[in-house]
Amino acid sequence: MKTTKCIGLIFIVLLIFSGCYYDNKAETYGTSVCDTLNPTYAATIEPMIKRNCIGCHGSVGSGGVSLNSYELVKSEASSGRLEGVTNQLQSYYSMPPGTKMSNCELNQIAKWVRLGMPR
Ligand code: HEC
Repeated sequence: MKTTKCIGLIFIVLLIFSGCYYDNKAETYGTSVCDTLNPTYAATIEPMIKRNCIGCHGSVGSGGVSLNSYELVKSEASSGRLEGVTNQLQSYYSMPPGTKMSNCELNQIAKWVRLGMPR
């Protein structure tokens, strides 16, 4: 009788613990993998700028800043201003205004700059 009770208890304990573990891939590993391996302007940076910046920084750019081409973005990046504004560092304007890009995007920019801003 005692052993049945004991086994029952172990069973309940196991149930409780297995109940705590559910295999939610998105929560366990993050919603998507952030690819920072080989960011290029064409594949990574340009789409990101289009999503987050080009609405205000097209050919007639807000604040006199256009981000309409590789050369223009590269020049903002080499001066440190691209990372300054997107990481919203002190003494920089915060871009995009009122929001912040994802850590994944910020890491991709950092890696792109570190790789010498490949096209
Ligand atoms: C909603 C419009 C808007 C969006 C979106 C936006 N900007 Fe701006 N940006 C501005 C305005 C306006 C200024 C001029 C400064 C000011 O008045 O705030 C500016 C200024 C800048 C400057 C110059 C800062 C300086 O020191 O003079 C840079 C660089 C810049 N933006 C980069 C970006 C980048 C990169 C993105 C995308 C991640 C972005 N902006 C998204 C409106 C925007």
